[in-house]
Amino acid sequence: MKYYRRRDKMKTFKKILFWSLLGFALMQFIPTDKVNKPVDHKANFVDAKNTPDKIRGLVKGACYDCHSNETVYPKYAYIAPISWSVKSHINEGREHLNFSVWETYNKDLKKSMLSEAIETIQNKTMPMPGYIVYHKEANLSDAERTLLIKYFEEMLKSGTY
Ligand code: HEC
Repeated sequence: MKYYRRRDKMKTFKKILFWSLLGFALMQFIPTDKVNKPVDHKANFVDAKNTPDKIRGLVKGACYDCHSNETVYPKYAYIAPISWSVKSHINEGREHLNFSVWETYNKDLKKSMLSEAIETIQNKTMPMPGYIVYHKEANLSDAERTLLIKYFEEMLKSGTY
């Protein structure tokens, strides 16, 4: 009696495993769009502002994957369902702030984006904490955060955004 029950459990387990693997395999057929739009360098933040190399490296390394059209997709972004989550962060990030189209923003929007960027870097909500685990260059030190904040603050003060 006991023996049969254990066999039933094994069967159920195998069924669940089979359907999970099949589901996982089928998920791979729902790809995400990873084609970046071409970048207009006249509208691109770091080009338009002629951002100094050091700061340019920080912004591009820490923000551009989600806030520009120059996203570099990591290997894990090719495996569903992780790929769906990555793409949704990128879509959302670009919707809020897209450095590639910076010069198409009006003055008010630029101003509020800079203030918000400063705030998010200060309180460490940006770059997204989950992301910096896998992206060393985005794991900004306190000194690097200060540099970025200073750069954005000076731009705000001088009105050169
Ligand atoms: C892994 C993706 C990712 C990275 C990297 C990233 N962001 Fe974001 N960012 C998002 C997402 C998603 C949102 C929208 C949802 C939210 O506010 O959490 C967002 C929102 C924002 C906003 C708007 C906040 C608001 O309240 O509207 C600002 C400003 C911002 N990010 C700045 C930055 C800056 C500056 C960096 C680099 C230092 C950065 N982000 C790096 C994904 C990212």
